[in-house]
Amino acid sequence: MQKISHPVYYADYLQLERLLSSQSPKSAEHGKPAHDETLFIIVHQAYELWFKLIIHELDSVIHLFEGNYVDEKNIGVAVSRFSRITEIQKLLIDQIRILETMTPLDFLEFRDFLFPASGFQSVQFRLIENMLGLQPEQRMLYNKEAYYASVSAEHQEIIRQSEGKPSLFKLVELWLERTPFLDFHEFHFWPSYRAAVEKILQNDRDTILNNPLSSAEEKQKQLQELAQNEENFAAVFDEAKHNQLIEKARRRLSHKATEAALLIHLYRDEPILHLPFRLLTLLVDLDELFTTWRYRHALMVHRMIGNKIGTGGSTGYHYLRATVERYKVFGDFIDLSTFLIPRSALPELPEKVKKNLGFYYSQKSDE
Ligand code: HEM
Repeated sequence: MQKISHPVYYADYLQLERLLSSQSPKSAEHGKPAHDETLFIIVHQAYELWFKLIIHELDSVIHLFEGNYVDEKNIGVAVSRFSRITEIQKLLIDQIRILETMTPLDFLEFRDFLFPASGFQSVQFRLIENMLGLQPEQRMLYNKEAYYASVSAEHQEIIRQSEGKPSLFKLVELWLERTPFLDFHEFHFWPSYRAAVEKILQNDRDTILNNPLSSAEEKQKQLQELAQNEENFAAVFDEAKHNQLIEKARRRLSHKATEAALLIHLYRDEPILHLPFRLLTLLVDLDELFTTWRYRHALMVHRMIGNKIGTGGSTGYHYLRATVERYKVFGDFIDLSTFLIPRSALPELPEKVKKNLGFYYSQKSDE
């Protein structure tokens, strides 16, 4: 066993003296101690600690994805770090219930002492958003100002710098664009996939037209629905249309990366594509859990302050509800389900390609 010259003491290691003396209720300072302010402070501090860990995990994954090559082993590392983040997020959503044991009337005992401080000024929260890839153009103005205007000059600098760094979204997009399997030996994914989709759409059309049980009116309605489906596919097959949607901010993921993400989803059963598939799924989980937190926080705020403005000065509940839909980062990855086709309709992979996508071991008979 390693010889330790100074035995580590629990309280010192965790710096508990500092940590546990960092709760200073404002109500007590004003000579009107409010019992629930301690809960309010500790819940916020717990959030900030978890935010710190999320940043630590995101930072490490961003580092793994920087550069022109991602070692296959690192996909597994990224998957386990994202899984850790999603578990933390579930805890963060649940934690709201602890705060809700405080009633709106109890909150009013100390709320006025907090002006103009607000969770809106959480620098770590902004760093997480920017590291994930929330774009400045997506953000709403806040009191007619940028989202960072209400924090100190030093914090503004930190937030502005994080806007300029490569985000997880960008790095994953670049990684997808480098996927070697889109054109691999004699297999060309995009034309094969397109032919399979066209066959499915033609089958659907024939089924509608030849169904003896449906009326002309019903057929018309079904054909209209099919046309909508065809239009969705047309927008993904035509790169120029896809780029127009990107220009209009209705899509974000590049065409090449979209092709690769679809390939990964459709051929996820091939061993080499399974971890990339888990990674893409975790990005969707992560985004969805953030959206859930935003929604849950907004509901809590509604219940706590009704339609009053926030301590930070926003329209409170209404501002927060609007962020729920607007502040998604990996929406394009969620939309991919529109373009999935059943396994039975997937183009068969050539044997040589299949071999390259699988793990094959041979055992010598004399061993
Ligand atoms: C009684 C409890 C709470 C109330 C009434 C409340 C209220 C609000 C309001 C009204 C806003 C909008 C900005 C403003 O005008 O102030 C806001 C934003 C925010 N709050 Fe809370 N909050 C509470 C608890 C929390 C907790 C526990 C956290 C955890 C860190 C938190 C984090 C945030 C964040 C990050 C924002 C910015 C959201 C965005 O801009 O998208 N809040 N909060």
